[in-house]
Amino acid sequence: MDQKQDYASTILTQLESTETLNSLEIAKSLSINHQDLVGCLLQLESANYIKTEGLKQDQLILTDEGNTILNSQSGEYEIYQKITELGISMVDLQKLFGIEQVQKVKQEQGEKKEKQVEDPKKKQFDLGFGNAKKMGYIKMDKGLITKVANDLPDKIKLELQQLNTIKLGSQQAKLLIERKLAMIQTIKYFEIKKGIKYANKFREQFAALTTEQLLNGEWKECDYKSINLNAGGEKISMGNLHPLLKVRKQFSQILIGLGFEEMPTNQFVESSFWNFDALFQPQKHPARDAHDTFFCSDPELSEEVDTNLRDKVKSMHQTGGVGSIGYQYEWSHEEARKNILRTHTTAVSSKMLYRIAQLYKEKGYFPKKYFSIDKVFRNETLDATHLAEFHQIEGIVIDKNASLGQLMGIIREFFRQIGINKLWFKPTYNPYTEPSMEIYGYHPVLKKKVEIGNSGVFRPEMLAPLGIPEDVNVIAWGLGLERPTMIYYDIRDIRTMVGPEVKVETVRSNAFCVFESK
Ligand code: PHE
Repeated sequence: MDQKQDYASTILTQLESTETLNSLEIAKSLSINHQDLVGCLLQLESANYIKTEGLKQDQLILTDEGNTILNSQSGEYEIYQKITELGISMVDLQKLFGIEQVQKVKQEQGEKKEKQVEDPKKKQFDLGFGNAKKMGYIKMDKGLITKVANDLPDKIKLELQQLNTIKLGSQQAKLLIERKLAMIQTIKYFEIKKGIKYANKFREQFAALTTEQLLNGEWKECDYKSINLNAGGEKISMGNLHPLLKVRKQFSQILIGLGFEEMPTNQFVESSFWNFDALFQPQKHPARDAHDTFFCSDPELSEEVDTNLRDKVKSMHQTGGVGSIGYQYEWSHEEARKNILRTHTTAVSSKMLYRIAQLYKEKGYFPKKYFSIDKVFRNETLDATHLAEFHQIEGIVIDKNASLGQLMGIIREFFRQIGINKLWFKPTYNPYTEPSMEIYGYHPVLKKKVEIGNSGVFRPEMLAPLGIPEDVNVIAWGLGLERPTMIYYDIRDIRTMVGPEVKVETVRSNAFCVFESK
């Protein structure tokens, strides 16, 4: 029988004749640590042999100093013992304790100066000496220190030896605490009663029924542990998607469901040409300033695009076409070749439109729906709602029949699928779309309209140079990924979503993102 079984049988036998037991007393009677009994109590309780109630009790225990005295003697007693039969002078007594009269001579630049230095040994001695007198060990008469009587016991040590007989609130206890020899400790213990399956002998409970037990019939005599159906499963350690990636996954699922195909977005560095010029964004546009856009220094300039395309874009900016007079300024190749970190995913869309136009030359017209979700960069001042790098989601529809009405319909359907069905459109301006509309949605938590996206019909001035036929329309919309993610996962500060601020534990515990469509 192992020890636990021993403890168990002690408890069960005692319970036979007693209504309630105290775990502290059992531990004492078994001469074991109370903590060692706890495991056994838990086992008995889970098998319903016993019922326990957790209680607290204050107890007087020795401090380190108290323990030192217990193992040797008290300071008062040490002084008492050092006093010889005929008595001793203070100076000699102090010497016995290694205390020098004048502590140290300090020399300061030629001039001799004596200085009394505070000695902790002396302080300790004075305290003990005073007490030894008070306690009736010693007396002092005309400078001579003598014992009051021979063979006195070490009263303090005796007291400490009988600590458990001292009542908590008593004067004696208070004095010991005051002298820092004892302190109060709250201990937890259990009151033990019979449980619903009480028996005076503990039968081991099996965790599982075995073939052997079935074959030899032992199962009839065995007790089995009940199964805890509420127990949580073990945590599985594995990789987890970051909240942004969870929401991104869900957005792409919705767009794929609506028949959109994903565009290749694997290029953070883009030439100004695809990010701005191809989008009919004039070179003097404030967004093209270093205050808003990150420029690359190495390589500073990108390779030249197809010169035919370049010249068409140039002349659209300078003098116009397709019914437009352009911007009437001198367009610079150099400016267009400047490498930047793309400021929006529309740079991906413009490149794709050029590719589609190339394909039209070979295969003729076909309608197409594309989307992209990836990172973009802007020279922003960071705060709780702004980062210099964030994600955009963008959708484009290339179709002869595409109209503003269709754009509004697609946007409504897209947002309906992420649970936002109250939408408002507000006219706005983008260099590359006309008409352009800001998209507002009802924020269920803030309970007000918030801007959630931007959209429009790409301008002929943008599409014509790329080679998109005049009768083909392209409608598009874009939105950020961070804001819906923050709403979905209740993230208050955007800065906690990237870099060292990301809490791995929240990434682990966040649920999947599944939008409830309205
Ligand atoms: N590029 C725009 C932005 O960054 C979004 C947009 C995309 C607007 C497509 C119109 C059409 O806000």
